[in-house]
Order: sequence, then structure tokens, then C-alpha cells
Amino acid sequence: MTAYEIISKKRDGHPLSSEEIGFFINGYTLGKIPDYQMSALLMAIYLKGMDEEESRALMESYLHSGQTINLDHIPGIKVDKHSTGGVGDKVSIILAPIVAAAGVIVPMISGRGLGHSGGTLDKLESIPGFTVDYNIDEFKNKLEQTGVCLIGQTAELAPADKKIYALRDVTATIQSIPLIGASIMSKKIAEGIDALVLDVKTGVGAFMTEYDQAVRLAKSLIHIGENAGKKTIAYITDMNNPLGYTVGNWLEIEECIECLQGKGPDDLMEITHQLAGAMIYLGRKTGSVDSGIELSKNLVNDGKAWEKFLEIVKTQKGDTEILLNPEKYPRSEFQTEYISPQNGWIESINAFEVGTTAVHLGAGRLKSDDRIDYKAGIRFHKKAGQKVEKGTPIFTIYTDKKELVQDSVKRLAHVIIIEPDPVSPPKMILDYIA
Ligand code: URA
Repeated sequence: MTAYEIISKKRDGHPLSSEEIGFFINGYTLGKIPDYQMSALLMAIYLKGMDEEESRALMESYLHSGQTINLDHIPGIKVDKHSTGGVGDKVSIILAPIVAAAGVIVPMISGRGLGHSGGTLDKLESIPGFTVDYNIDEFKNKLEQTGVCLIGQTAELAPADKKIYALRDVTATIQSIPLIGASIMSKKIAEGIDALVLDVKTGVGAFMTEYDQAVRLAKSLIHIGENAGKKTIAYITDMNNPLGYTVGNWLEIEECIECLQGKGPDDLMEITHQLAGAMIYLGRKTGSVDSGIELSKNLVNDGKAWEKFLEIVKTQKGDTEILLNPEKYPRSEFQTEYISPQNGWIESINAFEVGTTAVHLGAGRLKSDDRIDYKAGIRFHKKAGQKVEKGTPIFTIYTDKKELVQDSVKRLAHVIIIEPDPVSPPKMILDYIA
């Protein structure tokens, strides 16, 4: 068996055996197969797809590239949430403290920015000192201490995903159901959960732009999860417009602070409470998802979720002072507003264009070794469904790259559709699949 033969077989549209998949993923993780051959296989999988058996074998090869965590010694049901990726999607950071404050154990292995979409780990690391690199024992200790711990893939946990994720990010091979499935589910199964709530996004800013593709992805993720003995459910949610008002790592953390202090925008809080409510219910803290949603809202209103967030940040070595005084965070050298040229109602703001612009401004990576500028990004002052008045700002961009300011403003201005008549805000939660 050679890497070349396996690449050719997939290129020609033939299914790969479990042994071939295992040989390739293991060889790549150990550094025996080079990036250029892995890239070729990723593109072949992207173009030719994988059947159910191949998808399961791919996820298992990722999972067995590292260890799996046993959390049986920690009492209680362990529930996590994962999103398939979006723009302005900061839900995990708001929801993890809410659900932990409800008493559910939340082990969370998250990802970094991928393509035009942001990553929970990069956002958390914009908090000075915040650490996401822990070994398994440290992860378990923190989980016991706070009831929640947010980390990234490590050399011990799904290392194949860590390496392949970074390669997919720069080889245009992200939007593939088997590759997303193996990436998400290997991390989730490795972390020792009992149940999982998935947020499968659809729309121009999602990896699954079409609704039917999102449903297929949701079903595939549920199939993998249930086969592994994990209760898995999914919500299909809208990702045509950026979620909330901010896109970019620190800007999004600032918005999370507002959300946890009860001042979050409707679209973001609707999804957060729905997913948190489902997690609280699956963690058996309430008798229904609706009462889980009620509890989620109460935990934000009475300040318990915010206190839990401060506790998480402190436990993971982050600076809580800056969260209490966010105005002290360094700001981008260039902050440029775009002023509405007309009166009207915002019909839509293309999330893909917003995500891509944010990456160029410095909020994401164009090459796998790029350093992120945590300050960079975009803050919207108006959202889809809201009224705008001529002469008032619609968004502000933040960057240190002077040469990009004018082009970025122009690019974004083009993707904001303003209608003369009132427009309703988009429906956020489109479906539930179990
Ligand atoms: N999130 C992940 O962890 N992996 C993907 O491939 C997409 C979203």
C-alpha cells in the first residue's frame, strides 16, 4: 500500500478501505506522509466524497491518532456543543459558562479559525494569558474544579485533526461532509462526553451553503455520534448574516461580555439560549428543553453565568481585569466607519464576504503560520432587519493594515443590501434533527 495508490484510487472515485484510510491518516500524523500528499488526498475526498463506511473509518482514524479521555470519576452527565463554523459565531464562549452554571459538566475541545470562519480558540486566546493547551490530566483537573474547560486538540487528543485542520484551512478543502464529520466528531468523542448538541449552520457564511447539504451533514454527524454511543442532536441555524454585531477575536470577546451581562443582541442570544437549553436538558438539570431555555435566561439575568465566565478565565490563566475593564484593551491603529448613503432597511449583510474581509484585516490566517491580530475585525452598528438613516454609521473596521482600509470598506459596502421598505430580521433557528 502506498500513499500514491491511495490518492489515485480516491481521485478515480473508488471507495477506500478502513485499512487504507488508517494507513494514510496514521502516516500523516506521524510525519511519514508529507503535506503535499495529504493535500492531494484531501482534494480527492473533497471532490469525490466518501460513503458512510469510509466516513466512519476516517473519524475513527482521527480518534485513534490520540487518546480518549475517561471522565467517569467526575459525577454528572457531560455535555458539549459544537458548531460547524460561521461568522461572528461566539456562541460557545457565552454558552459554556451558562451551562456550567446550571451544574452540567462541559468538556469542550474547540477549533481555530478555518477559512472565512472564526475559531473559538483564537477568540479565547485574545484574552491576555488565556491558555487552551493543557494535557489530559490538567484538563480533567480543571473540569473537576470549574465544571467546564475549553481546550484545543493536543498531541494527545485527536492530533490527526490538529494537523489536517490546519492543512484544510489553506488548501480550499474545508466544505466536505466527511472531512467536517471526522474533524468534529473525533474531537467530541475523544473528550469523554455523554451527549452532544450540534449547531449546523447553513447560508452564504456557512460551509454548507445549501439547506439540504446542512441537513445531510447534520444526519451524518448524528449517525457517527449515535454509533459511538453518544446522544447527539442538531439544530440547523441561519448563517447568511454575521451573528451578533462583531467579527474578529477581541471584538467578539467584548460582545460575549455584553451577552453574559444581559445586553446581547437577539439573534445571538436566541441561538445561545436554545442550544444551552438543550444541553441543560440533556444534562438532566431540567425536564424539557423549554425549561432549560428558561434556566439559561435566568442564569444570565442573575449574573451567575458572568461569574462563571470570570472563574473559567481565571482558572485558564486569563486576565480577568481586562474583562472587567475592556476599554483598556489595545485598539487598532485604523478605525474607519462606513456611513449609510441612504435611508432604508437592511435586508442582508453577506456573512461570507464579512468573514473573508475580517481574515484579510488580520483577524484570521491566510497561511497556516500567520499570526493573528486579535484587535482586528469589524463592528456592525446595524443588522439585517434594522432601519438605517442616511448619514449614520453601518459598520466600523479595525485594522493595523493601512493599505487595506479603503478596499475593505468598499468591499463590505457592496455586500450590504438596503431596501426602501421594512424588512423582517431573519429566522435564526431553522430546524431540529435528532
Ligand atoms: N469545526 C471543526 O471542528 N471542524 C470542521 O471541519 C469544521 C468546523
